[in-house]
Amino acid sequence: MASIPGLRVFLLVLFSVFLTVVLGFGLPASLNAVMWLLGLPQTSVTECIVGLYLIFVAFVAMPRLPRGWVKVDGKAVLVTGCDSGFGLALAKHLHKLGFTVFAGCLLKDKGGEGAKELEEMHSDRMRVLQLDVCSDEQTNQAVEHIKHCLGDPEKGLWAVVNNAGVSTFGEVEFTSIDTYRQVYEVNLIGTIRITKAVLPLIRRAKGRVVNIASMYGRMGNIMRSQYCMSKYGVEAFSDCLRYEMKTWGVKVSVIEPGNFIVATGILTRDIVGNTSNKLWTEAPPIVKEDYGKAHFEHQMALMRSYCNSGQKDMASVLDDIIDAITSKRPYTRYLPMEPHLWIRVQLMTHLPGAISDFLYF
Ligand SMILES: NC(=O)c1ccc[n+]([C@@H]2O[C@H](COP(=O)([O-])OP(=O)(O)OC[C@H]3O[C@@H](n4cnc5c(N)ncnc54)[C@H](OP(=O)(O)O)[C@@H]3O)[C@@H](O)[C@H]2O)c1
Repeated sequence: MASIPGLRVFLLVLFSVFLTVVLGFGLPASLNAVMWLLGLPQTSVTECIVGLYLIFVAFVAMPRLPRGWVKVDGKAVLVTGCDSGFGLALAKHLHKLGFTVFAGCLLKDKGGEGAKELEEMHSDRMRVLQLDVCSDEQTNQAVEHIKHCLGDPEKGLWAVVNNAGVSTFGEVEFTSIDTYRQVYEVNLIGTIRITKAVLPLIRRAKGRVVNIASMYGRMGNIMRSQYCMSKYGVEAFSDCLRYEMKTWGVKVSVIEPGNFIVATGILTRDIVGNTSNKLWTEAPPIVKEDYGKAHFEHQMALMRSYCNSGQKDMASVLDDIIDAITSKRPYTRYLPMEPHLWIRVQLMTHLPGAISDFLYF
């Protein structure tokens, strides 16, 4: 076993050398060959490399290319977590576009505001369902209701948007195992439960699965381990499902919103206040002693200011979800976020860990 890390280092070095050789010699050599074939002077290779780089920059900065739209044509979409935030706004938006919407609400039976608002639309195309994504019973009932309402269940359900989610924060040593379980149950297992329950209907329609992850499904941060692990899980689940669904014609997309804290109800000042009290009260004595109250208060102040930050307008998130549902060729990943967060995600996911750690932590 002792030889495995050595072998790994050797393979990594070999791979790096291979990349260097390919990029260093291979790229100019291939461009030279193309120049020769086109009858152009080989001195244009540098210009070509600059040109390719500019194409890459343009690709990054360019608005979305039109890729054709599917017809709404009586299609139906299930959205979870429609009591507030993105889910509530999305349910209304999809309805406006002509879709039949099955809006899953956690608090429908308890008279929740979001469910009431959707019910008060009094539309045949807006069906509000009681749906706790952690409940097998409610999930089965919701699926039976959807089957019953679909004109032709054989035509299936066009899309599911797994939007229901919770968030919390706190350093690892302050966070209880129960908290990890709760976040994981809603954000990850809830997504898997709902997806599995509706996949037979989605497969019939050759439809769409749209999972709402987060920028924190691609990069970690201090105090966010509970949320990050659940959203990394959503990313992994979505990737594997995408590979499996390819043969069925079902497209799976992930939405990775940046910071829209002020726009939704996911982390309010009240939640931050209550969570802070719970974290300090329940922390083991040795953790309180070692970290100290001053450090803890500093971190909580950061969270209080964080919950007043972010984009107020959630239009970019809704546009991306709509694109994933209606485009003929939806993207695998959508990153609705401010430019500085986009750059951070790119650096954190593409640079060696030592460099991105140095830059951000
Ligand atoms: N806002 C952001 O900055 C941001 C960034 C990245 C990703 N996201 C993701 O976007 C999604 C929507 O969040 P949001 O920002 O719109 O926050 P939100 O307003 O809190 O919406 C989330 C909804 O999910 C519901 N929910 C919680 N547990 C549920 C369960 N067990 N079953 C069904 N529904 C449940 C919540 O109901 P209650 O309010 O009654 O708990 C709430 O209505 C989440 O997956 C979140 O992780 C948000």
